[in-house]
Amino acid sequence: MFRNLIAPFEDYSQENDFFITKIIRNIEKVLELKSEHEHEKYIESFEKAFAEYNGSKYAIAVNSGTAALELALKASGIKENDEVILPSYTYISSALAVSNIGAIPKFVDIKHATLTIDPYKIQENINNKTKALMPVHIHGNPCEIDKIMEIARKNSLAVIEDCSHAHGAEYGNKKVGNFGIGCFSCHSSKIFSGMGNSGLITINNAKIYDTIKKMTYVKNNPELILSKRTPCKIDVMQTAILGAKLPYLEKIISRRRKIAYEYMKNMPTDIFYQKEEKKSRHVYRDFIILSKNREKIKARLHENSIQAKIRYNFPLHLTEYYRYLGYKDGDLPVVEKVLKKALWLPISYAMPERKIAYICDLITKYMHEYNSK
Ligand SMILES: Cc1ncc(COP(=O)(O)O)c(C=O)c1O
Repeated sequence: MFRNLIAPFEDYSQENDFFITKIIRNIEKVLELKSEHEHEKYIESFEKAFAEYNGSKYAIAVNSGTAALELALKASGIKENDEVILPSYTYISSALAVSNIGAIPKFVDIKHATLTIDPYKIQENINNKTKALMPVHIHGNPCEIDKIMEIARKNSLAVIEDCSHAHGAEYGNKKVGNFGIGCFSCHSSKIFSGMGNSGLITINNAKIYDTIKKMTYVKNNPELILSKRTPCKIDVMQTAILGAKLPYLEKIISRRRKIAYEYMKNMPTDIFYQKEEKKSRHVYRDFIILSKNREKIKARLHENSIQAKIRYNFPLHLTEYYRYLGYKDGDLPVVEKVLKKALWLPISYAMPERKIAYICDLITKYMHEYNSK
């Protein structure tokens, strides 16, 4: 059925085609490096380039977004049984990073319009065990980060931004990852991606930079020998790929924004789509619509060789794994409602505009049939 898709949900090869010459040139350069020291220098030059792109003092490249979050939490002094507030509407890894280090995820609700964490709900959930906030710039849409930073300042809380979907996203002309500690996934499915797993951390504080840097190295250094460390530096080959794509990241973002605008322009009025947070630049890692008819819409699109997906099926606060936290149905009503309706439409750097009008036309026709039943 999906052999000749008009719009696949994802096709890494199509996007890589645009950058292939540059990627191969960089891989050749890496193959010519002579020592671990030269690998480290190569990685450092990529880290500098990303920090510069992001307007951050420092960047550290690691082997996944989850590792980035765990390192940032640990460097912020988060310990066992400390509470970290985060949205329940996110990928499981945001929460796993918290529970992996023995801390407790405190799930809160989101704003329906933007699908980002609700600052008022953050405020309501702070208690004396709360030690950090983890806003997630979900689907590439920056959270209301000025309000969140104000809450953090008033309550002396660390802020770890989950920027996994949001490379290049901005709030008030400042790139995400500069408000708290920025944690990015560069997994193949992200808008700025290597091949397989990798991630990045952005930092503006020299002490935190130093702490994280030391945690990422496993060496026979007597100063470090007693600390717990697991290798989590980035693979040098991933930096070859990421380094080749970095000069094109702005182009990737403007293309995705253009596709999103085409969707918004052509979408029938009775279909809700995620709204851009005020003062922000959404980078559209995902384009999300909400409809109680999502299964039917998905099926109609599939019949026409368009692949749409339901990526998060279940609110994190109600998963089996987090049952011990005691959440019940109805505790976070917006997340629970959204997750019954959310549908991910295809969006990629390689997607021609005419396909978007066609996809919206199929949805409009379906809605027309549904409304006239
Ligand atoms: C919101 C969010 N946070 C964290 C992660 C974890 O990133 P990684 O898969 O690179 O560990 C992901 C990955 O999909 C994500 O979507």
